[in-house]
Amino acid sequence: MIITIDGPAGAGKSTIAKRLAKELKITYLDTGAMYRAVTLKALQQGVDTLDEDALAELAAVTRVQVLPAEDGVRVLLDDVDVTAAIRTEEVTRHSSIVAGKPKVRATIVDWQRRIGREQSIVIEGRDIGTVVFPDAEVKFFMDAELEERVRRRARELEEAGHPVDREALTADLRERDRRDQERSVGPLVKAEDAVAINTTAYTIDEVVAKMLEEIRRHNQ
Ligand code: DC
Repeated sequence: MIITIDGPAGAGKSTIAKRLAKELKITYLDTGAMYRAVTLKALQQGVDTLDEDALAELAAVTRVQVLPAEDGVRVLLDDVDVTAAIRTEEVTRHSSIVAGKPKVRATIVDWQRRIGREQSIVIEGRDIGTVVFPDAEVKFFMDAELEERVRRRARELEEAGHPVDREALTADLRERDRRDQERSVGPLVKAEDAVAINTTAYTIDEVVAKMLEEIRRHNQ
């Protein structure tokens, strides 16, 4: 069984996907972590994040593992734990540029398909229901008002002890939305057959319950 969740940054995808996977007792796969890990490696090795061919060559010789962990996922980049290192502002900013390169996407999409062939997953990202698994059993498209998405990101950063500049955060989310929506390959767009969920006014429990109901209905 493959369940896809797509949507913009801060819509609640990771939190919800993690919970849903737990309820269904299947694996949770965070695909953004893969783009982030390749981006981190490029930054570490001084590879220009605008150079598509260099990035594609780098991705081809990179091993990224996204492993289930108690509080989400543990991410290994060439066997080194980079779970925290891929969440910095710098990696976040560059990852949306790296994710805009078609040749890089081809490699990373391939990793995702390979995982989905072997096991049941709840998989979240931007192009999962449209490009990676267009035949997935149940698809969701999750969104929330920009203000609410900024509030959630700010809270996450504050909890992790980082200073928060709300104006910069808003500008950054807007810019990432634009890049994700406007790229030529794998843009952020709702699959026609995806169930749209606006999470702005709902609690996590309410959203998970709604999704479980949808999945049950599909399996009947
Ligand atoms: O969901 P996230 O913020 O961890 O994603 C990091 C970046 O990767 C973000 O800029 C969007 C991009 N991404 C993508 O293009 N396709 C995916 N399936 C997942 C993430």
